[in-house]
Amino acid sequence: MQGGTALLIQVLAENQAISGGFKGEHGLSLYIETKKQKIIFDFGASNLCIEHGRKLGINLADVDLAVISHGHHDHGGGLKEFLQINTKAPIYVRRQAFGGHYSRKPDGKENYIGLEQNLLPNNRFVFTDEYLRINEELELFSGVKGEKMVPVGNQNLLMEKDNERVKDDFLHEQNLLVKEGENKLLIAGCAHRGIVNIIEHVEKMGYGPITHVIGGFHLYSPPTDKYEEPELIKGIGNYLKATGLMYYTCHCTGTEAYKLLKEVMGEKIDYLACPMALHI
Ligand SMILES: [Fe+2]
Ligand SMILES: [Fe+2]
Repeated sequence: MQGGTALLIQVLAENQAISGGFKGEHGLSLYIETKKQKIIFDFGASNLCIEHGRKLGINLADVDLAVISHGHHDHGGGLKEFLQINTKAPIYVRRQAFGGHYSRKPDGKENYIGLEQNLLPNNRFVFTDEYLRINEELELFSGVKGEKMVPVGNQNLLMEKDNERVKDDFLHEQNLLVKEGENKLLIAGCAHRGIVNIIEHVEKMGYGPITHVIGGFHLYSPPTDKYEEPELIKGIGNYLKATGLMYYTCHCTGTEAYKLLKEVMGEKIDYLACPMALHI
């Protein structure tokens, strides 16, 4: 840990790379270092997060625990290799995350977009319920139910249920809270349940108060290559701005949606590209 800052968030993999030697991919992976522990949040779409970690001098064998935000392959790509490099970190994941997940293209074609199911069974996985306090710094929660400003792009995402493919309910999605001194960060992977609903859930359940929010907001949808409507993006921007919190976004927010959010939110939002590091 450098310069006395208590908390480091290092982007290992993300859609945009802004420095030579680093690559972008549609996926997310963050390395988080608190005073007491080293965490990986998501594993990108491939082993790129591991390659970038090495380049940044992060010893992945030292990571204490890992979190998978939800059951989409762009958050679990480097998991298999991580399990080999690191022999101690428990992997906190929702049980439903290993279910069958699919995306539907405009031509009706459906593609498997879930995690690698052949990684099960493995006693490294800790299957989480709707709330888990891991220790004094870390909490996980899911079960977000609100319907405010939910991404329309979710309609192209399916899950397997009783041998049928139905609209994904995103019960497999969880979010991480990191407490460090006066600060409390909310970290979302894709915020499929809608970032506004996730924030309201934190308030309703008394998990806050939070000071910072990090994550993709799913305003860009890869299967259709489309953004959410500008009105929805601006509406989300106005809501987020009114919370007074600081936001760092990336991944499935998409650069065009980010520009709109930036117009609305000004200095209250920034983009986290690879290999940026945030010191809080
Ligand atoms: Fe994603
Ligand atoms: Fe996703």
